[in-house]
Amino acid sequence: MSPFIAIIFIAVAVLFILGIKLMGSPKTARYGNLLAAFGMLIALAATVPLLGSWETSQLLHGWSLNYILMVVGIVIGLIIGAIGAYSVKMTAMPQMVALFNGVGGGAAALVASLEFIKEASTHYEVAHETSAFITGSMLFATLIGSLSFSGSLIAFSKLQGYLEKPHTFPGQNVLNGLVLAVILGLCVYLTGWATTNSTAFIVMFSLALVFGVAMVMPIGGADMPVVISLLNSFTGLAVAADGFTINNISMIVAGTLVGSSGTLLTLLMCKAMNRPVTNVLFGAFGSGGGGGKAGASDLAGKTVKPIQADEAALLLGNAQQVVIVPGYGMAVAQAQHQVRELSDELGKRGVEVRFAIHPVAGRMPGHMNVLLAEANVPYDQLCEMEAINPTMDRVDVCLVIGANDVVNPAAREDKSSPIYGMPIIEADRAKTVIVMKRSMAAGFAGIENLLFYKDNTRMLFGDAKASLQTLIAQLKAS
Ligand code: TAP
Repeated sequence: MSPFIAIIFIAVAVLFILGIKLMGSPKTARYGNLLAAFGMLIALAATVPLLGSWETSQLLHGWSLNYILMVVGIVIGLIIGAIGAYSVKMTAMPQMVALFNGVGGGAAALVASLEFIKEASTHYEVAHETSAFITGSMLFATLIGSLSFSGSLIAFSKLQGYLEKPHTFPGQNVLNGLVLAVILGLCVYLTGWATTNSTAFIVMFSLALVFGVAMVMPIGGADMPVVISLLNSFTGLAVAADGFTINNISMIVAGTLVGSSGTLLTLLMCKAMNRPVTNVLFGAFGSGGGGGKAGASDLAGKTVKPIQADEAALLLGNAQQVVIVPGYGMAVAQAQHQVRELSDELGKRGVEVRFAIHPVAGRMPGHMNVLLAEANVPYDQLCEMEAINPTMDRVDVCLVIGANDVVNPAAREDKSSPIYGMPIIEADRAKTVIVMKRSMAAGFAGIENLLFYKDNTRMLFGDAKASLQTLIAQLKAS
């Protein structure tokens, strides 16, 4: 590779890193995305001269590149990507990310597999030696790229609601462990002893696809964001390994960035739920078994106090400080525009309105931020959990809209609760809490919410969108 191309690839790496940095804030995220995409365009352009030199070196073995096929592939990919991105609903974004990640992993696995099979035949024909490092990189990329592909397809199906429940059976983890052991054994065999054995390679490839399915099937639908983030980091690492295989620096850099940021995001989500990654992967959370009725004994004899929309509107209209806690139910009801309207209406009356955003509210990272941004809620009204909790005692009304687990005081008060230790938005410390939901049904964790039974809590039952419309009408009429 010429020094000029190497410098371009370093510049591309800088663009990727700046892009990720800008994505850290909603205000600059759009520019960050554009900058990283621009970096990718340059990386693609800089790869063209490399293809020429690759072709020259391969002509010896009778291979040549089919440029027309490559252009056709790029155009088809661009069209499908653009149509998908423009037409996808905001609420279906996690599925879209799962699909994109899956095809990325599949592509990385295909690149590595073709390189392995080509190297195997070259080795056979001209006694060409491939270093153990490169063979290892090919096998690594094939293994984790293909399991990321099949795992992401299952994650997509779960998010789409086709396979939502965890699918478990006795001895599942042992069986999965055995399949993984066979895959790793085959990788060692192929690296050390059988670099020309295409059959063993195809068996390893197929088992990796099966392992991706087996790994994701036992995990519950609402844990899919964590799984996708983990699979995303796998795809990144597969791409980085491909970079070593075909000697492309920008693939190594981009793949490592995706691998490390995916791993960090996975760990951050687990921290926000106070659950180790192993619990997400092997705990079958959301199957009902992990939940139970935590705190039920403390609730004996306690009842909830319903409230009507007119009384709730009066409380809100007379408050000085209101905190709105959105959750998964707001996304289900698609009530973000009504939430914005309510906030504006209260703002006109001099009420200070802030939004408390829990890092794992909803079903994907940033779910609430995306929905509220779609409804043009100003960024400066959004507060992170750590910033808003110390101020909760001064809040007159905390309006919980379709949030459940992320405001459950059991996380603080009930040591036997499966969510004990999870950081929550301390809604119960506000002077009055109004919870909007349709019934007494549990949230994702499947447990009772102690908040609903607190003396200062009132329940406004009904679909969040319909209830908000009534609230807004009552406020306007008063
Ligand atoms: P949940 O605890 O899942 O509760 C959502 C509530 O919304 C339900 O109790 C439901 O009660 C209510 N709801 C549903 N549809 C509604 C509608 N149309 N109108 C009004 N209410 C409605 O949500 P959360 O508090 O946002 O917590 C998220 C959960 O997902 C946490 O347990 C978290 O650990 C988990 N999780 C999140 C992520 C990410 S990255 N976000 C990743 C993994 C796991 P009704 O049925 O009674 O209405």
